[in-house]
Amino acid sequence: MADAKTPWGGRFTGMPGEFQQRFGASLGVDARLYAEDIAGSIAHARMLAKQGVIPAGDAASIEAGLLGILRDIEAGTFAFDLADEDIHMAIESELTRRIGDAGKRLHTGRSRNDQVATDTRLHIKREALRLHDANVRLRAALVRLAGEYEGVVMPGYTHLQKAQPVLFGHHLLAYFWMLTRDALRLRQAFEAADVLPLGSAALAGTTFPLDRRAVAAELGFSAISANSLDAVSDRDFLADLTYACALSMVHLSRLAEELILWSTEEFGFITLDDAWSTGSSIMPQKKNPDFAELVRGKTGRVVGDLMSLLVTLKSLPLAYNKDMQEDKEPVFDAIDTLADSLFAVEGMLSTMRVNAARMAEGALGGFMAATDLADYLAAHGVPFREAHEVVGKLVLACEREGRTLQDLTDAELASASPVFGADARAAVEIETVVSRRTTEGGTAPARVAEQLAHASAALSADERWIAENIGE
Ligand code: ARG
Repeated sequence: MADAKTPWGGRFTGMPGEFQQRFGASLGVDARLYAEDIAGSIAHARMLAKQGVIPAGDAASIEAGLLGILRDIEAGTFAFDLADEDIHMAIESELTRRIGDAGKRLHTGRSRNDQVATDTRLHIKREALRLHDANVRLRAALVRLAGEYEGVVMPGYTHLQKAQPVLFGHHLLAYFWMLTRDALRLRQAFEAADVLPLGSAALAGTTFPLDRRAVAAELGFSAISANSLDAVSDRDFLADLTYACALSMVHLSRLAEELILWSTEEFGFITLDDAWSTGSSIMPQKKNPDFAELVRGKTGRVVGDLMSLLVTLKSLPLAYNKDMQEDKEPVFDAIDTLADSLFAVEGMLSTMRVNAARMAEGALGGFMAATDLADYLAAHGVPFREAHEVVGKLVLACEREGRTLQDLTDAELASASPVFGADARAAVEIETVVSRRTTEGGTAPARVAEQLAHASAALSADERWIAENIGE
């Protein structure tokens, strides 16, 4: 490895050795911030020239030089020098190599402390948008499916035991609303990142007459930080985004778990597309839901990313500490894992086959109309606890005889309780059970149709938010 290149040569007579260089470097991780680093430097240089801090000609060559570097990085022809500690040094030293002394003026009134905070915030805004977009795509798939299978009845579960029948669309929309809250958290992380730290310099501000508001406007930040010490050491926006990622992964892991269960022979509610399944190297008959399992499994990593970040930040004194260089790896991992997982779940949902008949059949088992029979008695004046007892006995009898509640005759019902009238049997029809749950947010078809309309409206509002912010 080449000798370390450091920007602090003046004060030192010794140089870090190869180990120290490798241990101290972050280029492998933060190279990802190249576009934001260049955008931040161009805005800084323009402002320095406007404020008369550096000559306009220098700012122009800095800008041209940086744009050349940007082109080379994007074309894949930029040779990163591993002797550079991080992306900031890699770009600045290459700039100076290309344009000479003007490049050495770029860092006037700036520190890598406010620079890295600025780059990271710009990056997080962009990534929050990307994740929000992937979230919206998945929610659109849920809305599509919920509309397509609006009328399909399936068993609803508590404790993974059959509880009451629900519409499949209702079940799918439950995930829609979970993910809607995730989108809100992503937007909040975007807003937390939307504050410019540049101009805070190392920790205390700078002696140069910087125009921080001009830089904020140019970079698309809505506000500037109020305290230079806080600005260079605040990573709350990263914690916000990583929490949003972790919780969203937890939600996806729940959906993935259901896809895994539903695709078993025992459930048979769905069949995953071949493209989203894998086979076995030994058992020729196997079709495994690997990708759903991976979404479920990767959730652990992302929860770990959040822990890693929080513990890194814990007990750090003001202001910048090198510990903070460790902030990026978990956050980038959380972002990339969530982006991939949102895409994978969207892919699985959009291509799976729904076995509606199997769901409907499942809805007949489990005595799921029992609550309705008890409700019938309660509505006819029997105290609910007594009604519960009467129906419990009916369920036990049916279970012993291998029959369903729908098999009961009028006479059998009447002998269980004289309150049961001729209309009692209609109450246990599964369609009736579903359609009578008309409370707001309930599973009755009319309520689910209403919910679907609300979901579409929420989706459109989120699409508008992306459109409004993507151009920044
Ligand atoms: N690579 C560093 C980081 O990510 C940049 C800031 C370095 N500042 C410093 N004073 N060493 O945190």
